[in-house]
Amino acid sequence: MNVPLIIEGKQPLSGEIEVSPAKNAVLPVMVASLLTKEPVTIENVPRLRDIEVLLDLLAHLGTRYAWEGRSLHLHTPEILRTDAPYELVSKMRASFIVLGALLARTGEGSVSMPGGCAFGPRPVDLHVKALRKIGAEVNEEGGTFFARRARAFRGRVVFDIPTVGGTEQVMLATALGDGEVTIVNAAQEPEVEDLGRFLTMLGATVVGAGTSQVYIRGARALGGGRHRVIPDRIEAGTYLLAAAATRGRVTLQNANPHHLDALLDKLAESGHRILFGQDWIQLEATAEPRPFNLEAREYPGFPTDLQPVATAYLATVPGVSLVSDRVYPDRFTHVGELARMGAELSLKDHVLAVRGHKLHGAEVRAFDIRAGGALVVAALAAEGESVIAGTEHLERGYEALEAKLRALGARTRRAEPLVQDAAD
Ligand code: EPU
Repeated sequence: MNVPLIIEGKQPLSGEIEVSPAKNAVLPVMVASLLTKEPVTIENVPRLRDIEVLLDLLAHLGTRYAWEGRSLHLHTPEILRTDAPYELVSKMRASFIVLGALLARTGEGSVSMPGGCAFGPRPVDLHVKALRKIGAEVNEEGGTFFARRARAFRGRVVFDIPTVGGTEQVMLATALGDGEVTIVNAAQEPEVEDLGRFLTMLGATVVGAGTSQVYIRGARALGGGRHRVIPDRIEAGTYLLAAAATRGRVTLQNANPHHLDALLDKLAESGHRILFGQDWIQLEATAEPRPFNLEAREYPGFPTDLQPVATAYLATVPGVSLVSDRVYPDRFTHVGELARMGAELSLKDHVLAVRGHKLHGAEVRAFDIRAGGALVVAALAAEGESVIAGTEHLERGYEALEAKLRALGARTRRAEPLVQDAAD
């Protein structure tokens, strides 16, 4: 529903909510279901637009799926098509990893260049280079990559940058078949580790997923099974930052504190009281927080997906904070919008200086999922009413956002579409 979200701010968030399962863990597991003829069930899947987009693509390729409450049953007895066309791939970058799964299952595949969040260049060159390295022929023609398995996938892939999607791509390509591949400088994100657990359950040999070196040995055939994905650390981080920005007190259930070490450390440095157990986190905000500097990096560093949200929080903290992003150095689409709410921000040489003080409500627009998260946090902390357009981005990544915010005492409602939405 592309209707602006209205938030009346200055209400400290208070209460307890449950964190949803991780979108970025569910998506690769859904793609991995293409590797087996047997049925697979993913339990407790978040109802998000990105999940629906990937289901459309899987259905196109031959997957039959059914929802049973929040469980998603996926079954691909046969691959019906090996092409992932533009209209299905352009909506979400994560869909590019179906290429690896198609190569593993059928020996060929073609995938259009992906779309997704527009916060700077997000190439797929490392995916292509890695697939070529292990034994695929990959050609690009008219914006589509055509790939073929020339031999059983073997060898070592050394990534220049630890790419999440690239690591998942190679794991998917190798898990089914006679291949054996080692990935060096692999992405260590918990979502990669979760994919490793799922592939192991299906019958592949995966060692080291979640570390910088991953070894994968394929199986001739993979089985089925049930899987429960990890909690969404980015959603959890967004609510913690919202609690801090509104000087509230929030408890998150179904949250893994160890996946959020970098954020929790910064929030503690800022003066907030953090308590946690195995699967919960509580933040009690200090009334006088301190600023901090942050540089977003790959896991286990500070997550780039929380950089915009943390920037919104820092915009409420007196003093100067410096923010930069090594993963996406230009991920600053939220800056102009935060400025409309009174944030004092100046960007120079990819470093954002944030001078925090009181924010006020304004009409703003989200240009991607996490920029949307940032605007929500700023609006919650701001004096007066904010109208956030571009809510379709929020719906891609934050399950039941308004219900969760309201459970924490936030005052939110939906508006009539803004005039400019008519041109979308
Ligand atoms: N990169 C290349 N070439 C490639 C692939 C990546 O240069 O072929 C670069 C990227 O431009 C970036 C860095 O490598 O600078 C890391 O990108 P990565 O491949 O790790 O990102 P991704 O797999 O496309 C996932 C998440 C993103 C998250 C990034 C970084 C999913 C579905 N998406 O993307 O999440 O920002 O990792 O942590 O897992 C979101 O949820 O809002 C989101 C955008």
